Amino acid sequence: MNKSFSALKLAEEQVTELDSQLLKRKLRMTASPCDVEATVDNRQLKTFCSNDYLGLANHPDLIDALAKGASKYGVGSGASHLISGHSIAHDLLEKKLATFQSQHIAQVRALFFSTGYLANLTAVTGLARLAPHSNASIYSAKLNHASLIDGVHLASAQTKANVFLFDHTNLETLTEQLKKDRRPLKLIVTDGVFSMDGDIAPVQPLLNIASEHDAILLIDDAHGFGVLGKQGHGILEQEQIYSDRIVYIGTLGKAAGVSGAFICAHESLIEWLVQKGRPYIYSTATPPAIAHALLKSLEIIEGDEGNKRRTHLYRLIKIWQEEMVFDTWVKTSSCTPIQPIVLGSNANALEAAKQLDEVGYWIPAIRPPTVPVGSARLRITFSANHSVDDLQKLISTLKVIERNVSGKISS
Ligand SMILES: Cc1ncc(COP(=O)(O)O)c(C=O)c1O
Repeated sequence: MNKSFSALKLAEEQVTELDSQLLKRKLRMTASPCDVEATVDNRQLKTFCSNDYLGLANHPDLIDALAKGASKYGVGSGASHLISGHSIAHDLLEKKLATFQSQHIAQVRALFFSTGYLANLTAVTGLARLAPHSNASIYSAKLNHASLIDGVHLASAQTKANVFLFDHTNLETLTEQLKKDRRPLKLIVTDGVFSMDGDIAPVQPLLNIASEHDAILLIDDAHGFGVLGKQGHGILEQEQIYSDRIVYIGTLGKAAGVSGAFICAHESLIEWLVQKGRPYIYSTATPPAIAHALLKSLEIIEGDEGNKRRTHLYRLIKIWQEEMVFDTWVKTSSCTPIQPIVLGSNANALEAAKQLDEVGYWIPAIRPPTVPVGSARLRITFSANHSVDDLQKLISTLKVIERNVSGKISS
């Protein structure tokens, strides 16, 4: 054997270190479709952790649409959109996505991506490059999703962009910074629904600030698209917003039940991203069959069935808010299907997740760096496929787990 390769030793040491801090993550493998029950290690678990909010990931009409899409378009796109990968299915999907936001964004055009991560990287880096001499200012909400954070880091590495972080629950510092800002292009970046807390960004106040300071407002509505608004069009529909300065990002692997994401913005901004959005340009287009299945998903989302699914989802949220009463644990005031219980230490969160697993629930512990240090949590999410009975059983189970975990930690 030759001398051991030093990177292997480093990797093993670092992972051991993560484990000692209770920060090592473990993959669990399912042997069933994504739904409210999962087969994991030959056991059936009730899941309250996916982002399949409308329960569409295993919907027979979508399965059928994907199969039909594959027989019509094959299984691969073969190249990036600008080479030969852009199919009529992508075009139809983009046109339909644009109609979803047409009441909210002036001269809107949509651009489809294989993931939300890629859409966010493209939007933030591409928009930052719009600034003359690349000297944009980027204002990013502190609790934004990792893909936005990484987009901001990449933009600041690639351009001369200045970066400021702001607290989305107190916009005063954002306003103060903007007042002093003489840079030619300003970009405010926020999650629509904050993914680990479930609270909703103050979109109208942010838009007012953006208008006053001639900034772009980028909203990542990964957890609002399909869920918020009467027709499920997302946060802009719910808040009744109309503007030409909004860049809206939705993902399609969560409430839409399939995979992918999109950016909706004024056609001039989208055309710029097509020309200069590097992650868009240099990545193979999603299989057109996926776009074909997504057209079916959009039809369900804005139709009667989507409406019924949202109505049921909001009933579950209301029951949770009214009936989930803890002795010591604290619920947040989220009015979305994301309902975290913040437990503080990694040990507490892991113990609660372990005890839930033992009684048949899959609700993993969410730890740093996904959430700030000291705020490890159970991130409970609801799906329209959960029944009221499922929820009430979860509520009684959590009350027992709360007592067990609190007893164990204090003893
Ligand atoms: C707020 C937010 N934005 C973006 C993403 C990334 O989307 P995707 O999973 O499609 O890459 C996620 C995914 O978890 C998210 O929670």
